[in-house]
Amino acid sequence: MVNYKVADESLAEKGKEALYIAENKMPVTAKVIRERFEKEKPLQGIIIAGCLHVTKETGNLARTLKAGGAEVYLCGSNPLSTQDDVSAALVEEGINVFAWHGNTDEEFYWCIRQCLNAKPNILIDDGADMIVTAHKEFPELVENGTIIACQEETTTGVKRFRAMAKKGVLKVPLFPVNDARCKNQFDNELGTGQGIVAAIYGMHVLFAGKKVVIAGYGHCSTGMALRARGLGANVIVTEVDPTKALQAVFAGYTVKPIIDTLEEADIILTATGCKHVIPPKIEIFDKLKDGIILGNLGHFDIEIPTKELYEYAKEIKPIRSNVEELLMPNGKKVYLLAKGRLANLVLSEGHPSEVMDMSFGLQSLMSEFIVQNKDNLKPGIIEVPKEIDDKVGFLKLKSMGIRIDDLTKEQYNYIHGYEEGT
Ligand SMILES: NC(=O)c1ccc[n+]([C@@H]2O[C@H](COP(=O)([O-])OP(=O)(O)OC[C@H]3O[C@@H](n4cnc5c(N)ncnc54)[C@H](O)[C@@H]3O)[C@@H](O)[C@H]2O)c1
Repeated sequence: MVNYKVADESLAEKGKEALYIAENKMPVTAKVIRERFEKEKPLQGIIIAGCLHVTKETGNLARTLKAGGAEVYLCGSNPLSTQDDVSAALVEEGINVFAWHGNTDEEFYWCIRQCLNAKPNILIDDGADMIVTAHKEFPELVENGTIIACQEETTTGVKRFRAMAKKGVLKVPLFPVNDARCKNQFDNELGTGQGIVAAIYGMHVLFAGKKVVIAGYGHCSTGMALRARGLGANVIVTEVDPTKALQAVFAGYTVKPIIDTLEEADIILTATGCKHVIPPKIEIFDKLKDGIILGNLGHFDIEIPTKELYEYAKEIKPIRSNVEELLMPNGKKVYLLAKGRLANLVLSEGHPSEVMDMSFGLQSLMSEFIVQNKDNLKPGIIEVPKEIDDKVGFLKLKSMGIRIDDLTKEQYNYIHGYEEGT
């Protein structure tokens, strides 16, 4: 029996079309790994719960895990990122889905609890909310070994788990899949980078000639800065890390504190994982340029002080799908994308399937790795094995028809040795 709560089951056909489109662009996850999983059933008898953005790409991850023999539960990792047609289609395919677009905070956690009620053995999180809830509300799953291990998909989640581990309160083996090379160098940089297109979708603006502020110069934001510059914008970067700031300077960007950008910025896009990147102060809100577009691509809706902006605005008017016009007391207008939530997922469809192919290829192989190694995993952070990271890289290259060189034995010994020098 399939357990579920979705917005509208009649959207299933449309969802299947979306899943099909993604499947054809995900040869690693949806073809090579899935076909092997179908034959070998490495996940037989395992229950996997994913708290992930329910998109057509995540749907294909769920299908692959199911092909491997797992019973799969899925809930959304953000109240506005669920694609309702995909949820409906997955239910028809026997995946247990508790996700709909626009759920409240209370409903969000209800969905997580429904997945945890299934007593999952592997949790795949995006932002840490499911695994933290398991620690707080389902301690028996954590303590009696029901949960074998967990996987985390995004930087913000990994940071939360590293903080838990440091405090000694992380009670499960946790693989920070986000930190694998085949994940954050492509998904974060290319996917989120291209996510600036969400700002265009939202407001239909020309980037050329605009002053675009990119907050942060990490994995996501380097990609965003590059794309904004490619579209002809004058890009200003803000940072708190001196090395990252220097990298931005030497890449040719203007770097300054965010406060110094407010009167000139036409668009501010954040992706830092930090809170209050624009400080929540009235005198700062008053400085924002008339007509400015504010968008966030970081995990939580706290980078732009959305709550304080709503409180200060005289009037809030929805003007396009997922875009609001905030009329400020000084008469200026501020355009807020996606209520300050992940603009690329809310206004657009999230990352292109091609990059999610690598992220979810890793998640699939890591689920298999966890089952194979279940007797040897200890609570704490365990890095994704390099062989699995490399395997996904090789599979992706192969799917693209690209070959690379093999190290000869002599070369291998040279780069791993110390004796040969001048
Ligand atoms: N939108 C998406 O689809 C998507 C995809 C991947 C990651 N993310 C999220 O994006 C965020 C960033 O992820 P990342 O992988 O780029 O992280 P990262 O750690 O590589 O980069 C973050 C950068 O922001 C800088 N920073 C921190 N606080 C700042 C502040 N107050 N002002 C300016 N700069 C600041 C840091 O110094 C760092 O260089 C996280 O919340 C992550 O979960 C979103």
